Amino acid sequence: MNTVIELLKSHRSIRKFTSDPIPQEIVEELIQAGQCAATSSFIQACTVIQITEPAIREKLCEAAAGQLYVKESPVFLLFCADMQRHQLACDMHDADMLSGFTEQFLTASLDCGLFAQNVIIAAESLGLGGCYIGAIRNKIAEVDQLIVLPDKVYPVFGMCLGYPAQDPETKPRLPLEVVLKQENYDNGGDRRLISAYDERVREYYRTRTGGTKDNSWSEQISDMLVKEARPHMLPFLQSKGFILK
Ligand SMILES: Cc1cc2nc3c(=O)[nH]c(=O)nc-3n(C[C@H](O)[C@H](O)[C@H](O)COP(=O)(O)O)c2cc1C
Repeated sequence: MNTVIELLKSHRSIRKFTSDPIPQEIVEELIQAGQCAATSSFIQACTVIQITEPAIREKLCEAAAGQLYVKESPVFLLFCADMQRHQLACDMHDADMLSGFTEQFLTASLDCGLFAQNVIIAAESLGLGGCYIGAIRNKIAEVDQLIVLPDKVYPVFGMCLGYPAQDPETKPRLPLEVVLKQENYDNGGDRRLISAYDERVREYYRTRTGGTKDNSWSEQISDMLVKEARPHMLPFLQSKGFILK
């Protein structure tokens, strides 16, 4: 083990922060660490918007199901998949950009994930904590209008950052054998392994919530996946010029 791996394995989302501000030099350092993530075909398709204005943070909080840390965290970053500057790059060479490909949506969205993960890990290495906010997609069209994002740019998720005012346990992950297969996709043992894992997750929630929550992983997933998953996403993304072909 080394310190990088130890840091990665100690990750847990932080949702309560002290009021200590994060110096802007540190925010910029984190963003530069994010930029160093691998990027498909050097496309660099992630733009981060730092939102400080309280009235906008309040509206983002409302859009994200009222999660208070969206308005209360010292720093809030909105990660956007951005194919706008690629249009500019093509214009600079009088090239007709072909856009709307699902492949471009995938690579731009992946870029955001990789960039953001570098940011949160860099933050954690400095004693900060954070939490991704996918819930901004609950009302993505409102968020898009609020921030006035142009065509070919869409908000993938937000991220709260700050100095932790809580010290939660790390959340147990699936057994290695479930996620690491050798040579082929053999999931014959998965049901047994997931049942055992379910008990670990149940125990984790019991301890963390003083017994008020004791869902297993498979229960949580089956509760979630019987509901529609933000069906407004496809028309929204298409309206922004993504996933058209
Ligand atoms: C893309 C993405 C979106 C997420 N959205 C939210 C969110 O809206 N609210 C929240 O409290 N946590 C959110 N999370 C955090 C996950 O719930 C959390 O990472 C997961 O439960 C594992 O817990 P851990 O990060 O503490 O290990 C999100 C995580 C990711 C990667």
